[in-house]
Amino acid sequence: MSPRLAFALDAAYVAGRSTLAHFNTGVHVEDKADASPVTIADREAERLIRCAIQRSFPGESILGEEEGGDLLSTDRWVVDPIDGTKSFVCGVPLYATLLSYEQDGEPILGVCYFPALDEVVYAERGTGAFWNGRPCRVSSKNDLSVSYVSSGSAGSMMGFGRWEGFSSIVKTAKATRTWSDAYGHALVATGRIEAMIDPIVKPWDTSALAVIVREAGGRLTDFVGNDKLSAEAISSNGKLHDEILRAFL
Ligand code: IPD
Ligand code: CA
Ligand code: CA
Repeated sequence: MSPRLAFALDAAYVAGRSTLAHFNTGVHVEDKADASPVTIADREAERLIRCAIQRSFPGESILGEEEGGDLLSTDRWVVDPIDGTKSFVCGVPLYATLLSYEQDGEPILGVCYFPALDEVVYAERGTGAFWNGRPCRVSSKNDLSVSYVSSGSAGSMMGFGRWEGFSSIVKTAKATRTWSDAYGHALVATGRIEAMIDPIVKPWDTSALAVIVREAGGRLTDFVGNDKLSAEAISSNGKLHDEILRAFL
């Protein structure tokens, strides 16, 4: 494991554990300009990660959801202190702390830590993906009719014009669930489900997960199959990817 990945694992762990002080406590919830929720736990966790980066890698660029930062740099740390704030504020343990490092515009390592589950999935380009320290891989199912597919909310599918395509997947798949946010992609990377579909994401939502899913043998693309991270994301075990993309043509 590279020193950079070891650092990222530790920083995500420490920041993630800090969120537990506010989890299931009735923490005050504010609405941001885009109406998404934020709490002191989001802000504190991002601050911890930023301070840790500044101590260990002084001067390096950071993009974080709560404090903003470098939208243009091709070499940077990318932080989502709590991915799944809606879960967090409802006391649902499926939220994550995400940290990645991008080089030449591509994520080269990513950590996805679930504080309330004490579960971690991580990867570094070229060395495979790991789930709680053991290698993990996507599932080998190649038939949508026996596959489990997770997704963002029904509202986001409707709001971003993906309802029709998603409906055809719902009809074909064995089961659909909204195990949402990073958790859905982590389920794909660990072979527990076959695909995760999210019609609206930001750079900090997918950076860590892209390298994790790919190193686990899967694909993470936009809705037309481009690997470049954008404002939407489908991850899958790879075998079902083209069939899922066809539903959205
Ligand atoms: C949300 C999640 C979700 C995506 C939303 C994001 P947050 O992040 O990443 O999967 O669909 O667009 O806002 O706000 O819980 O960090
Ligand atoms: Ca997020
Ligand atoms: Ca967040």
